[in-house]
Amino acid sequence: MQTVHSLDPLRRAVAQLREAGPLALVPTMGALHEGHLTLVREAKKQAASVAVSIFVNPLQFGAGEDLDAYPRQLERDSALLEAEGVDLIWAPTVEAMYPQGFATNISVTGVSEGLCGAARPGHFDGVATVVCKLFHQVLPDIALFGEKDWQQLAVIRRMARDLDLTRPHVDQILGVPTVREADGLAMSSRNAYLTPQERTQAAALPAAMKSAIAGIEAGKDVADELQALEAALLDAGFHAVDYASLRDADDLAVLDRRSAQPMRLLVAAKIGKARLIDNMAVMPSSC
Ligand code: PAJ
Repeated sequence: MQTVHSLDPLRRAVAQLREAGPLALVPTMGALHEGHLTLVREAKKQAASVAVSIFVNPLQFGAGEDLDAYPRQLERDSALLEAEGVDLIWAPTVEAMYPQGFATNISVTGVSEGLCGAARPGHFDGVATVVCKLFHQVLPDIALFGEKDWQQLAVIRRMARDLDLTRPHVDQILGVPTVREADGLAMSSRNAYLTPQERTQAAALPAAMKSAIAGIEAGKDVADELQALEAALLDAGFHAVDYASLRDADDLAVLDRRSAQPMRLLVAAKIGKARLIDNMAVMPSSC
């Protein structure tokens, strides 16, 4: 396994790997957990070589967000990735990614508006910009992302189609189902911000979501179920609910009732120092 921090050695490493066959890219911000490692294992099944990028991207953090506090643990992450048989770690410095005078922004309209786009202005511009750069840098044949960040996946798919990133280099953007802890909490690097008590309380998030989904699938009123979900979270120790929303799974259009198309329940809520997000599928009605 090779680790590179700047563009020239990256390009040499990528050229060599691409000679051996298809190359997969798993973009991350590090502080790796089983969710990330599941993407890596899936990547290994899909391609001859796997590159993992580790970069805490300043562009996607707003003022007052957790850019400085975000866990950075390259040595630990490298050991985990080595054990998984990863070929290349691309861990650019901020200067390598954003050279002096960097002035370009990729902004995806539509799917990046609302939900986390409303709660975190500029966040998805930062994500789209860095992921676009990563695609051009690594030239992967396939790139893997977690369904945990459903809106992010929708933004990246839209950008890849719009900017022709899917030909000739990135043929596929693969979404991988969310990996959860035993109590149902979605794995996240930000769970590390929780105290033991908050960590226990946080399990209310997937539980309240499942209960709302059961209600919606049983034909109960969507607004009532979303209200009950918010109340359950505040009751359990969350101090704010940014959103709890039923959406079309693909274009993220707001739904006020169960539809016949695939749907997704998306929630963002704050507990302690952490802002947790989660999403789950809602079965479409049969007609
Ligand atoms: P990060 O939060 O490190 O996540 C990296 C990838 O792991 C993302 O595709 C995310 O959806 C996936 N992931 C995180 N937790 C997961 C879980 N519990 N189950 C399955 N997949 C999970 O998302 C980012 O970084 C950044 O925005 C990035 C795309 C790297 C751009 O900077």
